[in-house]
Amino acid sequence: MGENKKRGVMLSGIQPTGNFTLGNYIGAVGNWGKQEKEFDCFYFLADLHSLTIRQDPEALRHQSYSAFSLLISCGIDPDKSVVFAQSQVPTHAEMNWILNCYSYFGELSRMHQFKEKSKLHEENINAGLLTYPVLMAGDILLYQADYVPVGADQKQHVEFARDVAGRFNSIYGPTFKLPEPYIPEEGARLMSLQDPTKKMSKSDTNPYGYVTIVEDRDTIIKKFKRAVTDNEREVVYREGKDGINNLITIYSVITGKTHDEVAKEFEGKGYGDFKTAVGEVVADELAPVRTKYLELMSDLGELDKLLKKGAQRAYEVSLPTLLDAKHKVGLLYEVLDFCKAK
Ligand code: TYM
Repeated sequence: MGENKKRGVMLSGIQPTGNFTLGNYIGAVGNWGKQEKEFDCFYFLADLHSLTIRQDPEALRHQSYSAFSLLISCGIDPDKSVVFAQSQVPTHAEMNWILNCYSYFGELSRMHQFKEKSKLHEENINAGLLTYPVLMAGDILLYQADYVPVGADQKQHVEFARDVAGRFNSIYGPTFKLPEPYIPEEGARLMSLQDPTKKMSKSDTNPYGYVTIVEDRDTIIKKFKRAVTDNEREVVYREGKDGINNLITIYSVITGKTHDEVAKEFEGKGYGDFKTAVGEVVADELAPVRTKYLELMSDLGELDKLLKKGAQRAYEVSLPTLLDAKHKVGLLYEVLDFCKAK
């Protein structure tokens, strides 16, 4: 009776700021539901991370519902995975403080994302922006995650989580599992449709640079028709053809065709036909996601119930690791009655 074999743990998070882009979908979220068969999965809204950039409070709260619905619409089953909001599970903020004291200013200030975001938000280089990877390390280590599915831009942060876990374990003995980044072979870094040398990002000021996963069919196709490419005519994956390479990647991931098969399919046809075809397969892929999303968003009460269920389970799973770490560093670690659920 029951399962004897211990399953691996898969964990990832996404910031609830703005609608998810096709980059988030192909590089991360779209793959998460598929892992439920093999792994114990934990997926969450990294809403505490979002505070590192100034947010409109009402908009952020609304976007949390929206992003939670999107996670489920993209194929995560809340009966199989633990899906929750980071800020509703207090173990994350507590673990963050402990790990802060085992992380160094030097290593944090060298992180790519810190450097990029400090340039982008010169007026608000807050401490959270610097210690962002420490919060993320706590998110991962609290659940003893084996694998962290992320796009290429988050690889350095997962490596940092490994470093800090190793450092802590070497002082106090085995406490945290060392996680591994789990990066898709294809689509780990989708590029902007307007500037294919830049990552596709929901914070792009030009809406033609990205496609969100709840956009309507006509808008999606229009954005692909306008995608910036080059002056050649050949649909082929080759160095220097950043725009076309990006479109081939998208088409390949969605249709399952190889780059060569895509090149054959569009041999003798122009870029116009190809761009429309990419727009159409993307629109077809995202149509059911959009339908499910709109359905979920019509019942916020039901979303609250799901959020609560996820947070409770996440708390139960993460608490033993937090208490172990508190014990090891010398803190009092009894959970006092007033903190226990009624
Ligand atoms: P976030 O919200 O920036 O992005 C969520 C996921 O989407 C991936 N991604 C992309 N993949 C391919 N092409 C793109 N253009 C593209 N843009 C984004 C990201 O790599 C990411 O996997 N710090 C994280 C959230 C986080 C987290 C964690 C992740 C917080 N704690 C613990 C894993 C584990 C972030 O801001 O992701």
